[in-house]
Amino acid sequence: MRSLIDILDLSVQDIDELIALATDIIENPGKYSDKCRGKKLATVFYEPSTRTRMSFEAAMYELGGNVLGFSEASSSSASKGESVADTARMLECYVDIIAMRHPKEGAPLVASNNVNIPVINAGDGGHNHPTQTLADLFTISREKGRLNNLTVGFCGDLKYGRTVHSLIAALSRYTGIKIVLISPQELRIPSYVEYDILKKYNMDYVETESLEDSIGDLDILYMTRIQRERFSDFDEYERLKDSYILTPEKMEKAKSDMCVLHPLPRVNEISTKIDKDPRACYFKQALNAKYIRMALILKLLEGAYENNRTEKCAELVVNELKCTNPRCITTTEQELDHIFKGTDVENGIYRCIYCEKKKTRIK
Ligand code: CP
Repeated sequence: MRSLIDILDLSVQDIDELIALATDIIENPGKYSDKCRGKKLATVFYEPSTRTRMSFEAAMYELGGNVLGFSEASSSSASKGESVADTARMLECYVDIIAMRHPKEGAPLVASNNVNIPVINAGDGGHNHPTQTLADLFTISREKGRLNNLTVGFCGDLKYGRTVHSLIAALSRYTGIKIVLISPQELRIPSYVEYDILKKYNMDYVETESLEDSIGDLDILYMTRIQRERFSDFDEYERLKDSYILTPEKMEKAKSDMCVLHPLPRVNEISTKIDKDPRACYFKQALNAKYIRMALILKLLEGAYENNRTEKCAELVVNELKCTNPRCITTTEQELDHIFKGTDVENGIYRCIYCEKKKTRIK
């Protein structure tokens, strides 16, 4: 049974089909109101969430199914030390599909490797958030009528913003995409996104610190929150937290049909004065998320996808290299093998399958 752990688990055709299905759900809701009768979704959230958890739950209810789960680790047996693998095995006894959010990178992959029901990554640390990416792509497709030939600016916390990493990966599949990365030096995108996606797929990208200088070129402006919870140095967060604030004055320099997206929650990086601007699409994006998650639940429960995760095809080394990323699930999960996949075997470059931390293997 295939899970959705990384947006690249889905092909462009899979994404097109999900968008078509979500569109049909919007247009014909009655057709789908009983499709998941008798099915149960577990929403297991070890980290706070408003949109992702509630839109998954609303999605399952609108499909006629039921939902159970927890919204914080402290109310689950994780607080007594239960591993992610054991928790997933328990959930498999009770439900048909799992949506998991976890602060440790790779936790949903561990869950998926231990069960025979689909697991959806609902956000793993600062790593990935593939269903947010589906909501982003669906919104871009609805607003712009295309997913090719777009200049997309990402602004804010590109280091810890997992939605940014997943959306850049998704856009690598489309043609005519220009990426503008707008961030302070300290919050540049991680090296695995730069080397394994932007450079590997020859994507057209530039980096800048100035929103004002680049906003006029953009078809899409993807604003992000500075992720306070991921900083180890609070003073650094305080120094960077107001790096970018989108105001009506800055919007005057933007194209008349530019689309402003934000995965939300926002703190202060988009002035509320912009909410009524027709170019502000972030609340529509949150609504679209429910419909695309309905489509995803339907497809996963149908068993529509084969399990072809990339590491299955890569050269793997087991327990020879150790992952040293403190945010990786390997640091907390009991007896978990450290598994690295060869991404550039000739040059000895391997990446942890859970968090994508790079290691060089010396033969
Ligand atoms: N976009 C998003 O993931 O929001 P929540 O953290 O509220 O789920």
